[in-house]
Amino acid sequence: MCGIVGYIGNKKASPILINGLLRLEYRGYDSAGIATVEEEKISVMKNKGRVNNLNDLEGINNLKGTIGIAHTRWATHGKPSKENSHPHMDNSNSFAVVHNGIIENYQELRKKLTDKGYEFLSETDTEVIPNLIHYYYKKENDVLKAISRACKKLKGSYAIEVLSKYEPDKMIIARKDSPLVVGKGNGENYIASDIPAILSYTKDFYFLDDNEIVELTRDSITFYNQELEQIRKRVKVIDWGAAAAEKDGYDDFMLKEIHEQPNAIRETIGAKLDNGKIELEDLNFSKEYLESLNKIYIVACGTAMHAGLVAKTIIEKLCKIPTEVDIASEFRYREPLIDEKTLAIYISQSGETADTIAALKLAKSKGAKTIAISNVIGSSITREADYSIYTHAGPEIAVASTKAYTSQVVLLSVLAIYFAEVLESSEDKLINKLKKAILELPAQVEEILKDVSSIKRFAKKIYKETDMFFLGRGTDYAVALEGSLKLKEISYIHSESYAAGELKHGPIALIENGITVVSIITNKDLMDKSLSNIQEVITRGAKIMMVTNQEMDNKNFDCIINIPKTNPLISPILSVVPLQVLAYYISKEKGLDVDKPRNLAKSVTVE
Ligand code: AGP
Repeated sequence: MCGIVGYIGNKKASPILINGLLRLEYRGYDSAGIATVEEEKISVMKNKGRVNNLNDLEGINNLKGTIGIAHTRWATHGKPSKENSHPHMDNSNSFAVVHNGIIENYQELRKKLTDKGYEFLSETDTEVIPNLIHYYYKKENDVLKAISRACKKLKGSYAIEVLSKYEPDKMIIARKDSPLVVGKGNGENYIASDIPAILSYTKDFYFLDDNEIVELTRDSITFYNQELEQIRKRVKVIDWGAAAAEKDGYDDFMLKEIHEQPNAIRETIGAKLDNGKIELEDLNFSKEYLESLNKIYIVACGTAMHAGLVAKTIIEKLCKIPTEVDIASEFRYREPLIDEKTLAIYISQSGETADTIAALKLAKSKGAKTIAISNVIGSSITREADYSIYTHAGPEIAVASTKAYTSQVVLLSVLAIYFAEVLESSEDKLINKLKKAILELPAQVEEILKDVSSIKRFAKKIYKETDMFFLGRGTDYAVALEGSLKLKEISYIHSESYAAGELKHGPIALIENGITVVSIITNKDLMDKSLSNIQEVITRGAKIMMVTNQEMDNKNFDCIINIPKTNPLISPILSVVPLQVLAYYISKEKGLDVDKPRNLAKSVTVE
């Protein structure tokens, strides 16, 4: 997904911009570019391909400007090419713009501008922005006013940075539905779409809200609303160390993040389970309110949605409130039945996933209370929701989510207990057992990760395969879905996940000699039935990797991973770990880029 970096100060801007873009590489992109301004002249350097290739462009070292904007593009409108990459200039080369998001009415704007004599050199939606700014500049003779007027004409989402030759000592930025932060320095200021890009330069951040415009000089940051009335914003101190965003000696971010899970879970639990009933900072639901609910929706995408599937079982069991889980991009368009008796929970690691944010806005508009669960403080979703609670997993850089998933399931379990305690809907004994089990999780994940040699060996054996199956019942099925997604994402092996009992209703036709089936069995009550399903595939020649915490008489599996016992409601937090490790080592065996799988982006900010 596109990334933005900006700098205004006294140092040469280009190395700072390129360094920032390198830190955003994990988001996925296909081209990169920068622009700096010097003596009322804007210079643009851009190309298709990697950020590092920018260093090879002729003249890049001659850019002496101390103000600059930069961008990594993930193609939406128009193929990856030099012409389509950002920054884009207006026809008079007076304004340079980088843009994240999608301008939905760009065709209409392009036509209007073309009728007025403007020409377009790219296939992008973005190119209308600098030209629209130029169009209004001719009327206003004021850069800020021109940008504000242009923004009012844009439909869709945008985070933009604008350089202008008319005001070469200023930079203007604006946002709507696409993230943008300002990092405050001393005699210099930084801009980024994501905090890690500039975290090594400052810890003081301002988070822009929708329809805000900011004018930056080296020594000042002035915030405006769309009417250009000055507004005040609070600085937030971000205490992630810059090293937290680095690899810490691991080969890849994904492996590092898999190993960070014990700590991420610990941090997410924090002091929430320490004494008596759970209190969650931002939440103060009354028993009457929770009793009035006729439904809880959990809405998210991808891995976050899989975390929601686990939570459904926990909430229904502890709180006795019907809970539906939905894919955010589907939820919006199926006219879900929402009213003030609905509570809607949205899960998003990044807090910037466009589909999830749009689904949240929908529920809000229909009177439901909304809770955001995110890993990023101040992210867009947390600013939209009525209430926000945070996983404390630290920055997750690898595209394939690992520690965010386990932290999300932990936090959702804590949330379910919180509801149950307010509702008095579950026996204390059950609640206390579950709390104790949650507190044991970090050490249990550590135990699983201590020795992964048999998973590594199994990965070596099967990495050339083209199809695999993941089977489970109950919460083990939710884990099967997540295991299968991890494998697809980073190893490019086709895989299917099924509720084990469903196999005989069709998919078993695909089971043939030698195919690999990963089985997850962590619930004693479901073990016999699950084992019968596995026997059915063994009979048809399948190789089995078994992930279990149960004692089994038949150990006739190709690989068996014994994990610690826990309450079946939260067993996914343990059983997913071997599946993450399996996907990781298969990808490594295949020599793939684990952290940046093809076609994927870390933060999906388009719908
Ligand atoms: C996970 O491995 C994926 N890369 C993806 O499914 C991700 O979970 C999804 O895009 C949602 O992201 P979010 O949590 O940042 O909203």
